[in-house]
Amino acid sequence: MNVNVGRPNKRVTSNPIRYVIGEQRLVCLFLGIGIASLIFALIPSKSSLSLSGRISSNNNDGWISSDSSSSSLSEHHLQQQSVPSRRIAYELQDESDQRGNSGAKLPMGLKSRRLRVLVTGGAGFVGSHLVDRLMARGDSVIVVDNFFTGRKDNVVHHFKNPRFELIRHDVVEPILLEVDQIYHLACPASPVHYKYNPVKTIKTNVMGTLNMLGLAKRVNARFLITSTSEVYGDPLQHPQVETYWGNVNPIGVRSCYDEGKRVAETLSMDYHRGLNLEVRIARIFNTYGPRMCLDDGRVVSNFVAQALRKEPLTVYGDGKQTRSFQYVSDLVEGLMRLMEGDHVGPFNLGNPGEFTMLELAKVVQETIDPNAKIEFRPNTEDDPHKRKPDISKAKNLLGWEPKVSLREGLPLMVSDFRQRLFGDDKSSSNSGGSIFAA
Ligand SMILES: NC(=O)c1ccc[n+]([C@@H]2O[C@H](COP(=O)([O-])OP(=O)(O)OC[C@H]3O[C@@H](n4cnc5c(N)ncnc54)[C@H](O)[C@@H]3O)[C@@H](O)[C@H]2O)c1
Repeated sequence: MNVNVGRPNKRVTSNPIRYVIGEQRLVCLFLGIGIASLIFALIPSKSSLSLSGRISSNNNDGWISSDSSSSSLSEHHLQQQSVPSRRIAYELQDESDQRGNSGAKLPMGLKSRRLRVLVTGGAGFVGSHLVDRLMARGDSVIVVDNFFTGRKDNVVHHFKNPRFELIRHDVVEPILLEVDQIYHLACPASPVHYKYNPVKTIKTNVMGTLNMLGLAKRVNARFLITSTSEVYGDPLQHPQVETYWGNVNPIGVRSCYDEGKRVAETLSMDYHRGLNLEVRIARIFNTYGPRMCLDDGRVVSNFVAQALRKEPLTVYGDGKQTRSFQYVSDLVEGLMRLMEGDHVGPFNLGNPGEFTMLELAKVVQETIDPNAKIEFRPNTEDDPHKRKPDISKAKNLLGWEPKVSLREGLPLMVSDFRQRLFGDDKSSSNSGGSIFAA
């Protein structure tokens, strides 16, 4: 028995070449190598073909909007990027999955994975509009929110979608999630809300941002922070360029927010420089639109709510201080381009059209009630006199600029407010869909 089993082994050791030729093992070996090389040679060329195909089709499916300026942006985008962005990489992956021929390249667990995006503060005003766009794009979206100023109503229309998750959580505490991108918006944005508990506001900005940066580092996600034009304080330079360092009071009543956001930017840059994290910094200027809190003290929502309630419009100071007003869909487009692009920033995202408070009051009167009265009150502490973004950098590097004028955007916000205040005008006040039509 032992002798029979040992025989073939002995033959192999004594003349392995004759054994291999005789048994036709060599033919099989070369055939195997040939097939493997063919597979590896074919896969990259297919990917590059579908990359160009995908980018042009993106112009049709809304990732990059479909007008002519956007298509030139996608060409520009393609020329600029030596490697496809994460977004494109995942789309390629999805496409080849659909064709059923990618099994050789990717581990099983990753094969049909969509882009997973975390939006902190996603139940708030800006966050919920961003979530709408990400969901429409086909991503899996997780919203983390403590509902301090956000509302479930803002995202309720996604509850039945299996790609959507909502987690009640305060970003001051750490959280572990597996995601590819993090849009970090969680922070009260209106003076009424951020002054309500200043210590909590600065904790949210510092500890919340640290927690989200730590998470991004751990799972190797790209991280975008929504900073603010408030980092320029009461600016001594007009309009404000990103290279301007600002004029901020470090001990004033607004400092919890202004300085908090400055620290959040610093932390983001330090994670980027020191730990190689991919970060993106947006400095957002005044933004308005449907789903803003009704009584949050921000000037556009104040005027609109007051005019609808037939109350006088409150103008603080002499009303000659200026602001720029950006419609929310323009901001969301800018945030997404920033996240997908190759540039860290900071980028000013705002509408450079400048209005005095009195001019704004006039537009509100024209839109809602020509007989609305104006009431003057003493100005609040540290209220900046002028605000206007210089958006050349975003125009050049992101191919972005706002498209919706105040006179176009205001009626969309008014119908949403009217519906929430009085429960009427339902048909025209879908706070989610209307912004994309604008
Ligand atoms: N809207 C603007 O004009 C504007 C201007 C500049 C910057 N920003 C920035 O954009 C982001 C979004 O602003 P918004 O206007 O949508 O404000 P918002 O108040 O409507 O939204 C903020 C969201 O963050 C949530 N949140 C607050 N603290 C949190 C915490 N500790 N943990 C978890 N969630 C928390 C709130 O519940 C809310 O849903 C903010 O970071 C803000 O600083 C907005």
